[in-house]
Amino acid sequence: MERTCLAVILAAGDSTRMKSSKSKVLHAVANRPMIAHVVDAVAKSDIASVALVVGRDAEEVARAAGVGGVAIETCLQKERLGTGHAVLAAREAIARGYDDIIVTYGDVPLQTDGPLKAARQGLAEGSDIVVIGFHTDTPTGYGRLLVKDGELIAIREEKDATDAERTVTWCNSGLMAINGRKALDLLSRIGNGNAKGEYYLTDLVEIARSLGGRVTAVDAPEVEMTGCNNRAELAAIERLWQERRRRELMISGVTMIAPETVFLSYDTLIGQDALIEPNVVFGPGSVVEGGAVIHAFSHIEGAHVSAGAAVGPFARLRPGADLAVGAKVGNFCEVKNGKIGQGAKVNHLTYIGDAKIGAGANIGAGTVTCNYDGVNKSETLIGENAFIGSNSSLVAPVSIGDNAYVGSGSVITSDVPADALALGRARQDVKPGRATLLRERALAIKAAKKAAG
Ligand code: UD1
Ligand code: MG
Repeated sequence: MERTCLAVILAAGDSTRMKSSKSKVLHAVANRPMIAHVVDAVAKSDIASVALVVGRDAEEVARAAGVGGVAIETCLQKERLGTGHAVLAAREAIARGYDDIIVTYGDVPLQTDGPLKAARQGLAEGSDIVVIGFHTDTPTGYGRLLVKDGELIAIREEKDATDAERTVTWCNSGLMAINGRKALDLLSRIGNGNAKGEYYLTDLVEIARSLGGRVTAVDAPEVEMTGCNNRAELAAIERLWQERRRRELMISGVTMIAPETVFLSYDTLIGQDALIEPNVVFGPGSVVEGGAVIHAFSHIEGAHVSAGAAVGPFARLRPGADLAVGAKVGNFCEVKNGKIGQGAKVNHLTYIGDAKIGAGANIGAGTVTCNYDGVNKSETLIGENAFIGSNSSLVAPVSIGDNAYVGSGSVITSDVPADALALGRARQDVKPGRATLLRERALAIKAAKKAAG
């Protein structure tokens, strides 16, 4: 029969070292709160029951953790007395009786399902405690795994460690699996006689061994187990996340010329044979289909770019930008809540907001959809194969029919029917020879001023 499992996610810490007005686990990695990344990894480990231990900013943390797919009960840790104390905030849930208890930390956002599954396997094979460890060249700050005669005998926190113990490079990730039938008994034996005066979850190793229980460790990749305690570590985790995701996308068939300059969001999707040039930033909610090209220095958020479409260089796609197959949005253009039809071109210096542009339309340089009157937003409709001359202002609500022409420099305030030409500008007036007169007059004024000293 399948083993039952409860995951306890610790997210109640005071985040002192983050020096922040909000909880550490609310800080974002790839535009998503750290805690949501952790819940996602847990959900992928086939664990249906999750107890989330919250303290500071409890409501916001619970909300950020609600990423779907798994039922979460929140447990309040009223005082922050350490990781061992925090797990006991989930006492009621643990007491319901599970085969496996997984403890994981809200501040280890790169974790995946792999190590969690390996730790549960250790329980299935008879261990009472399975510690998830990792090897690193930079162990400072982590608890160290101490081994004697090939057995894990203790975890020593940095602050409590001797100089010799601090040279150990096998570290505690914080993630751990505990025999669910023994968990409450083991946890209730943790004391706080250490440098920080806290109840350390890590003491379980010695406690379980002293009771004759079996304690083992499994190894996880260092990248996945990187913890976040301050802003420098947050930046390092962001870098690791970006490197991992860029690589996944490249392996799946996306070309990036300078991947280290491309920044992705947690949910950015890019199809095979898309080309992403240097210095492109993706905000949340974007999809780039296969074969599309994103030229350099573009910023893309909440947008859909269909196959064969081209964006940039220096373009900004904001939420609701939707480019059909083969559409083009060129340099210094901004699109917000705008559908750009198949093969339509918005090539230079243009703002398209709250608009629908038909297939094959051509929007000239410097066109602006004037969608906001200071109070309300209104829509601009542009028909198929319409041609908007450069430097036109389309004052919404307004519609331009199929195949219509708008003359350059027009301010269009009323609808233009299909196939019509609309001119909304002053008529040109040409005065032959007048330039010569003007120039002579200007030179005379200059000479008079000079003579007057
Ligand atoms: C902890 C481990 C350390 C390990 C490291 C890995 C202990 C004693 N130490 O240290 O061995 O190498 O993680 O990153 O377990 N939390 C609560 N309530 C509390 C205290 C903490 O919910 O009272 C939560 C925090 O929100 C955080 C997690 O537990 O998500 C870890 O706490 P933190 O203070 O960051 O522990 P570390 O010092 O990093
Ligand atoms: Mg930590």
